[in-house]
Amino acid sequence: MDEAMQSGMVEFYEATAEPLTRQCVSTAFAMVGGVRSGTSVLDVAAGPGGLSVAAAEAGARVRATDLSPAMVARLSQRLGPYANCTAQVMDGQALDVQDGAFDAVFSMFGVVNLPDWRQGLRELARATRAGGHGCISTWTDPRGVGPVPILVEALRTTFPEVALFPPDGEGVTLLRSPAVLQTAMGAVGFEDVEVREVEVIWTGPSLEAFVADRDRLYGFMPGYAALTPADRDRLAPALRRAAQNRGPDGSVRVVSTALVAAGRRVPLCAGGDSPLGL
Ligand SMILES: C[S@@+](CC[C@H](N)C(=O)[O-])C[C@H]1O[C@@H](n2cnc3c(N)ncnc32)[C@H](O)[C@@H]1O
Repeated sequence: MDEAMQSGMVEFYEATAEPLTRQCVSTAFAMVGGVRSGTSVLDVAAGPGGLSVAAAEAGARVRATDLSPAMVARLSQRLGPYANCTAQVMDGQALDVQDGAFDAVFSMFGVVNLPDWRQGLRELARATRAGGHGCISTWTDPRGVGPVPILVEALRTTFPEVALFPPDGEGVTLLRSPAVLQTAMGAVGFEDVEVREVEVIWTGPSLEAFVADRDRLYGFMPGYAALTPADRDRLAPALRRAAQNRGPDGSVRVVSTALVAAGRRVPLCAGGDSPLGL
């Protein structure tokens, strides 16, 4: 992806995905006992910074990290006004931070997606001070989030051969179960792990505006991006059918479920059994 495409992607994410993921932030903050003035926060795979900016607004000292330099550029810009808040390119599987350096370590819809999600989770625990908290989130069904299920349904009827996304990774597949999520957090050294469901609501514009906006809404999704302009036009009636009657008063609305898991870091990882290979 060239530079212009990367910053287009950041802009798109901030405008369309962040309003969804941000709906989990207040739950995440409550589950770690609150984020307030002086709390040291590490945000792993922070994206453009939905959680990081909320933590900064609460007065926390935030280190926001992401593998994408374009995301980090946007993070730096948004965190600029806040004292003691910085952004840095970092791989979630190999965090360049000291052991136990943070009161609260978050990775919203982040570590679960990493190729080595187990290592990402271990790194999250390593960065959390004993008695501090770690918190991650994931979708119960990534294909059911925001405007995605409408496209999935429209493609199924019009172009059944088109695969919208590559298959889900192992972390996303395993951790969509609250029980497995809880076990995974426990296995890396968090205790009293709680998992909460958060209902995340996407409300689109009117039906007509939604169909007209299809290239912007879906242009970054590989299956849609590969369609020719003529095929996209062929898809429009199926999108209209899939979108109608989803919300009250003719609006387009999708409700999905996120899982937010948080626990307190124990001083030392207990040895013995290692569930899930963690
Ligand atoms: C689904 S977004 C989540 C963004 C944000 N946490 C949120 O809740 O909106 C996943 C992010 O993971 C980042 N990412 C992908 N691989 C990564 C890695 N190995 N280490 C750190 N971040 C990574 C991507 O650049 C992207 O910003």
